[in-house]
Amino acid sequence: MTQLNILTLPDSRLKTVAKPIEAIDASIKLLAADMLETMYAAPGIGLAATQVNHHVQMVVVDVSEEKDQPLVLINPEIIEKTGVQVHEEGCLSVPGIYAKVKRANEIVVKYQDLAGQQQELVADGLLAVCIQHELDHLKGIVFLDHLSVLKRKLAIKKLAKFSG
Ligand code: NI
Repeated sequence: MTQLNILTLPDSRLKTVAKPIEAIDASIKLLAADMLETMYAAPGIGLAATQVNHHVQMVVVDVSEEKDQPLVLINPEIIEKTGVQVHEEGCLSVPGIYAKVKRANEIVVKYQDLAGQQQELVADGLLAVCIQHELDHLKGIVFLDHLSVLKRKLAIKKLAKFSG
């Protein structure tokens, strides 16, 4: 397995909209394994294919303490959202910046697993935050895009300082 390079802002490739995966072949399985390795090494709790410059609809997440509950979601789609939660988020593509983002508290997400089976997952709390955050990446959206214009400007100014 290989650790992949993670794109960071202001890289415009992060704005790419990912394409659906039609065949879960060896290259997709390898990408999933590499993404998990990259996420654990970072360390992070979620990673979208977009962030490693593969513009296909796949994300990996693991919000467990022991880092032993990897989830690979292929062609994921949120089919239900309820409630509201505000959580301080960060992102491997936006290093050093954290901000509170309002998201749904509970979601139902439909996806295919690595075996190509259709699955449905009910998630709340941190797992729901993480899945919503990662699915945004597949649409070319980063968490800063959810902030007010003023807060986003402040975050970007801080980001410039951090990386420069
Ligand atoms: Ni992210």
